[in-house]
Amino acid sequence: MKKILVTGGAGFIGSHVVRRFVKNYPTYHITNLDALTYAGNLENLKDIEDYANYTFAKADITDYPAILKIFKQANFDAVIHLAAESHVDRSINDPMAFVRTNVLGTVNLLQAARETWASFEGKRFYHVSTDEVYGSLGENGLFTEETPYDPNSPYSASKASSDHFVRAYGETYGLPYLISNCSNNYGPNHFPEKLIPLFINNIIENKPLPVYGDGNYTRDWLYVIDHAAAIDQAFHKGKNGETYNIGGFNEWKNIDLVNLLCQLMDEKLGREAGDSAKLITFVKDRPGHDLRYAIDATKIKHQLGWEPSVTFEEGLSSTIDWYLNNQEWLTRVTSGAYQTYYKEQYE
Ligand code: NAD
Ligand code: TYD
Repeated sequence: MKKILVTGGAGFIGSHVVRRFVKNYPTYHITNLDALTYAGNLENLKDIEDYANYTFAKADITDYPAILKIFKQANFDAVIHLAAESHVDRSINDPMAFVRTNVLGTVNLLQAARETWASFEGKRFYHVSTDEVYGSLGENGLFTEETPYDPNSPYSASKASSDHFVRAYGETYGLPYLISNCSNNYGPNHFPEKLIPLFINNIIENKPLPVYGDGNYTRDWLYVIDHAAAIDQAFHKGKNGETYNIGGFNEWKNIDLVNLLCQLMDEKLGREAGDSAKLITFVKDRPGHDLRYAIDATKIKHQLGWEPSVTFEEGLSSTIDWYLNNQEWLTRVTSGAYQTYYKEQYE
């Protein structure tokens, strides 16, 4: 039995990774370690919580004694690290929370692995990161694994720092590691603070759709289930010490994406064509807003055989269906502290 620690498994991407590993690998035991912050929700894993090869551990990665205790008890063979503060706007408002979880928390995990792994033979520390560490592209070009790090937001700076610490533990102590840097994800269980789930929720509630600046910013969108599949491939087939870029070959200007979303939502909600688009409101730009992200994902395609499996139209359509069919989930995660966040950010 292989013992794998997944951190951040109650969050958006982590829940898809945990589900995939628990279901597809019955000979693995998956421990999901998560602090259950505003972004973590065990409801995301309801369907697998009773599986014999799954355990949940509530812990904060900034708490080293707690983390070390779990590592000592479990003797993990591998770590897949996703726990993080993940929202750029929140990082602008409270950078220190990002330093604590993303930098200190990552180093705590590296240190616990180093301290408890008597031999590194057969071990692996897989760090899940973002393409935002590369900074911003102009109108042309793509991020490759060789693009120099140039982070602009407190979020991307904290993720870049965590990537560097992972490499440093590899170089200095020989810790076997792997990093992947992925583009923007979308899909079920996405907390409604990021563009796509926020706008789906606002369209349902007939609230304004706050497009930052002129909306001419570009992101490269990937369906979260394809990201989980890429993590599976990289975890099993990737080489230690390597970085893999993961992306959808799917660039959209925000305003075009929002218009497509409005059109699909009108159809699904039975509204008049053009109704939802009337909610579009151009608002003050995000400070330090990166113009464009786009990933060259040919390395993972050629070396590990991974590529996206769904088109954007298919993925977006099933994402909208998921939110329409899970409005209780939406109501629950948007009650309480979310209301304060929303008011401070948008009103
Ligand atoms: P998320 O915000 O949905 O989930 C983060 C999870 O981490 C939550 O369950 C939360 O409770 C947990 N967590 C936060 N702080 C913690 C702490 N101190 N201790 C333990 N658990 C803690 O994030 P996500 O969008 O699923 O992102 C997961 C990872 O993937 C992050 O490392 C992020 O940087 C990376 N990533 C995200 C995207 C994206 O588009 N969302 C793209 C590329 C990479
Ligand atoms: P987001 O989902 O926050 O992801 P990231 O900043 O990590 O790329 O934002 C995606 C794009 O959408 C980004 O260019 C900022 C923009 N955006 C808005 O225009 N309005 C919003 O309310 C949000 C949350 C994002």
